[in-house]
Amino acid sequence: MGNGNREQWASRFGFILAAAGSAVGLGNIWRFSYVAGDQGGAAFVLIYLIAIILIGYPLMVTEIAIGRKTQQSPIGAFKSLAPDTPWWLTGALGVLAAFVILSFYSVVAGWSLAYTFKAIGGFVPGLDYETIFVEHITDVFAPIFWHALFMILTLLVITAGVVKGIQRWAKILMPMLFVILIALVLRGLTLEGASAGVSFYLSPDFGEITGETFLTALGQAFFTLSLGMGVLITYGSYLPKRENVSDSAGWVIGMDTMVALLAGFAIFPAVFSLGFDPAGGVGLAFITLPAVFAEMPWGGFFGFLFFLLLSIAALTSAFSLLEVVVAWLIDEKGWDRIKASLLVGFIIFLLGLPPTLGYSLLSHVNILGMDILDTYDFISGNILLPLGGLLTSIFAGYVWKSKNVIAEANNPKGKIIFGEWYGYIIQYLLPLAIGAVLIWGIVDTFFLS
Ligand code: PFF
Repeated sequence: MGNGNREQWASRFGFILAAAGSAVGLGNIWRFSYVAGDQGGAAFVLIYLIAIILIGYPLMVTEIAIGRKTQQSPIGAFKSLAPDTPWWLTGALGVLAAFVILSFYSVVAGWSLAYTFKAIGGFVPGLDYETIFVEHITDVFAPIFWHALFMILTLLVITAGVVKGIQRWAKILMPMLFVILIALVLRGLTLEGASAGVSFYLSPDFGEITGETFLTALGQAFFTLSLGMGVLITYGSYLPKRENVSDSAGWVIGMDTMVALLAGFAIFPAVFSLGFDPAGGVGLAFITLPAVFAEMPWGGFFGFLFFLLLSIAALTSAFSLLEVVVAWLIDEKGWDRIKASLLVGFIIFLLGLPPTLGYSLLSHVNILGMDILDTYDFISGNILLPLGGLLTSIFAGYVWKSKNVIAEANNPKGKIIFGEWYGYIIQYLLPLAIGAVLIWGIVDTFFLS
């Protein structure tokens, strides 16, 4: 379990960019925009923001504090704070979630890479983009090729290590991502008729809110912030003791939320201006948007930028998912980084085959009314992440004790200082809110629908 030559982020900025890279991903652009579109826009966005502040932020601080305190990846972290208890299983749940999430995440990221190349040829008005998308995902070999390519890119970075791989690439890719996003927002907002999209996005209609809106908003908050599965414990374990936790988490949350909100400003004005439906569901990015780009001046160029943005965002998140498993093998099993990365990368590639083939050779497989990819998404996003978050908050509040979380978060003191009130949030608000939503979500899915 040697800690002696464990790598550390070179600076707080390196940590913030890497953690923001993990948080900002397909979740902010692909998932956020279709979920917000389906759930009625502004009212959903408001509840999402409340969930981010009240639940996302405290849980993020807690996870980073656990990692920073123990300087261990998730399983070892729980073992060292609660030796000889089964709490390490919470870390194991995170490792399991990393396998499940990355294997389907890489498939969707592969679609995005494929569309980046498609965009170079331009998007042509009047084509049936639904058929084009369906043809892409129902093909057997192309999606496997793009999924494999995406896993290889992820592996190249993870084998290079925490500083030379993750931090270095986060410093290059995250600024690129912001520049592209701003260009897309300016394009969207300057289209004629963009204001209908802006008001859909900014004027809440509370009549649209249902129980499902709350459920979806909390699930989205977990997914987008990479919470509940040990990514932030792992990244926190590389944070030097001299750096503050509470402010760093604030920066990560700020960047993640800004990207999600800006992605909405890039997408909805364009969708409305060109007369499309914002409730395009899962296909919003891959079906509605290519049609939107085809109609827009300079659409091929902006389409290329959009899918490049999506691919970059997915890549920096994939680093963190792979790192959770690799760090466990290095810390706990004494494996070499390269060997661990290659083996785990290959297993995840294999696990990604069923969701990839779920639209072609395995299209007859249907689990609770969902295809294989949606099943992976559902199990990880709606069950494993909230369960991981619930267990982590109970652990922090009652086993490790909230006063220790507070001490670690305030050490050294930052601008955001936690007092005793923070203990109530960890002990009561987090477990009750997450537990209620988790139970409600399961009952709703399995028994009511
Ligand atoms: N936060 C990423 C996104 O929004 O796309 C997805 C993700 C990454 C979820 C890492 C969970 C995780 F551990």
